[in-house]
Amino acid sequence: MNFLLATSLYLLAANVINCSITTQYYQRLIKQGITEALRYKLPTSNNEFKQGVESNNIEEYGEFDFVIVGAGSAGSVLATRLSEIDDFSILLLEAGGEEDDFSQIPALWSFNQFSEKNWGYYSTPQKQSCLGMNNRQCSVPRGKLLGGTSSINTLMYSRGNCRDYDKWSQLGNCRWSCKDVLPYFKKSENCQIRGDENYHGKRGFWNVEYTGPDSPLFQIFLNGSVD
Ligand SMILES: *[C@@H]1O[C@H](CO)[C@@H](O)[C@H](O)[C@H]1NC(C)=O
Repeated sequence: MNFLLATSLYLLAANVINCSITTQYYQRLIKQGITEALRYKLPTSNNEFKQGVESNNIEEYGEFDFVIVGAGSAGSVLATRLSEIDDFSILLLEAGGEEDDFSQIPALWSFNQFSEKNWGYYSTPQKQSCLGMNNRQCSVPRGKLLGGTSSINTLMYSRGNCRDYDKWSQLGNCRWSCKDVLPYFKKSENCQIRGDENYHGKRGFWNVEYTGPDSPLFQIFLNGSVD
């Protein structure tokens, strides 16, 4: 429900601010994308991914110093960093395609999840959570495209919980404690939000900022929601 409100607000904002041909393009794009998403059936078996794939057909791509499986957040960063060394040849493999104009609208995240851009996994039936879901199974979207899940997760940024890192470290994974990984979070981040500088960096590639564009309608909407 919250999401639907947010989407209609978004469309309203787009209409008010821009009446150009671009708006019409996006109106058509959004309408068509939503229609397709509502019809889309998520795969129920991994066998469905093999359809149209000729398993005996082996192609020669040559030799590489590094083969990275999956161009999600981690794989893409790894490939970028390795490519800084000119002599390295790198093969980055990705099962999905690229983002398109529809998937680049963060507010449409729930519709992107009903598309080939999502592997389509569900949790096992839960005892204590997902109580409102069919069979008590939550959807666990995993991106199947360049950028991986970061391309379909509404551009939300959240770090893992310190206690998880510390627990992994205690279990014997040295250098995974919160204190150990923090410098890498800071190094990767280009933080535009008001945050404690002890925890945030400003010189990385990873832009973190408040949502935009800053529409006057947002505050009006929030004010209108106060009872
Ligand atoms: C929203 O409510 C606050 C507090 O009442 C008020 O100061 C502000 O002017 C309101 N903003 C808009 C855009 O209505």
